Amino acid sequence: MAIRDIRLAGDEILRKVSEPVKELTPEITELINDMFDTMYELDGAGLAAPQVGVSLRILVADVGDNKQICLINPVLEKEEMRQYTNEKCLSFPGVRRKLRRPCHIIVKGLDRDFKEITIDTYGELARCICHEIDHLDGILFTDRN
Ligand code: NI
Repeated sequence: MAIRDIRLAGDEILRKVSEPVKELTPEITELINDMFDTMYELDGAGLAAPQVGVSLRILVADVGDNKQICLINPVLEKEEMRQYTNEKCLSFPGVRRKLRRPCHIIVKGLDRDFKEITIDTYGELARCICHEIDHLDGILFTDRN
């Protein structure tokens, strides 16, 4: 278990397109565990690997329903309907922004055991996953409206 340093706005790694994960290694598992630890320590709902300085396509999320989500190489298969959100980002301490996100998404990817998963979800988790996938593409919530 380890808390990793968060990369803040202005750090160029937040603007890079992250690389796909090719195989599950002990280092990747450790990274995922550390991402959960860091997210919980900072009271966040989601975290993307570039935010801890690793340019790989991994996100974690927990929107408070006791479900830990880890997605490796996530791909949005469907995004529909709109919701207005009021978002925070661990890379922008103290900033809140109102923006629009899909309300319903279907996302495919690999879980922390490198097994294929599909998540079909609404509302807060949909919002959170879209925010974190944006991080993997170098897009920040300040780019959205
Ligand atoms: Ni963020």
